[in-house]
Amino acid sequence: PRVRLDVFTQIPHAFGWLTEQKPLATVLGGELELRLFNYRGTTPLRAGQVDDSPYGGGSGMVLRVDVVAAALEAAYGDERPARVIALTPQGRQLDQALVEELAAEPAIAVLSSRFEGFDARIVDHLCSDAVSIGPYVLSGGELPAMVLVDAVARRLPGALAEGSGESESFSADLDGGIEYPHYTRPPVFRGWEVPDVLLSGNHAAVDAWRREQSRFRSAV
Ligand code: ADE
Repeated sequence: PRVRLDVFTQIPHAFGWLTEQKPLATVLGGELELRLFNYRGTTPLRAGQVDDSPYGGGSGMVLRVDVVAAALEAAYGDERPARVIALTPQGRQLDQALVEELAAEPAIAVLSSRFEGFDARIVDHLCSDAVSIGPYVLSGGELPAMVLVDAVARRLPGALAEGSGESESFSADLDGGIEYPHYTRPPVFRGWEVPDVLLSGNHAAVDAWRREQSRFRSAV
């Protein structure tokens, strides 16, 4: 594989849906190897315990540092991926530039946690990056992990080959985003018309129009 993506989670089955969809389904087993690890499977604690109540009091549970260390050791021994990413609302915000950076890595580990999150020592000592998918708080890192996996998977060349050649040639220019507006049948609905140029059959004119539209839309 070109990218090995390992996700550590308490809910591996949550990823079932994602792996059956394009673009992930297309690149899985080829350019992308996705492995799901359950912290419970390698926890050194009894009864599958992975989290604990916070020192100093307060509500919620905190993912334990010894549990995450054991999971990483079981998966990698001494050869960790260069990028070990903790998903947390306190992290660097995920954007397309970071997605491109990650899609160029040979191996990535993604750590998710539930509820109150990680013991801070996990982020400080076991991770290379802390990443947030946006300025809001979710109940766990599984959705953020799926967002990251999807965004990386669709940047792999095999995922692009699935799309039409047309949008493919635009993708590089548009930084992976296809920012021009799309239309399909009917050509007129309630008097709302599809732009004439798209019905003209003139591919050069269509290309020019799309480029102009995407420039217009990207302008801040
Ligand atoms: N965990 C909870 N909220 C999150 C967010 N916005 N980004 C990443 N991980 C999270």
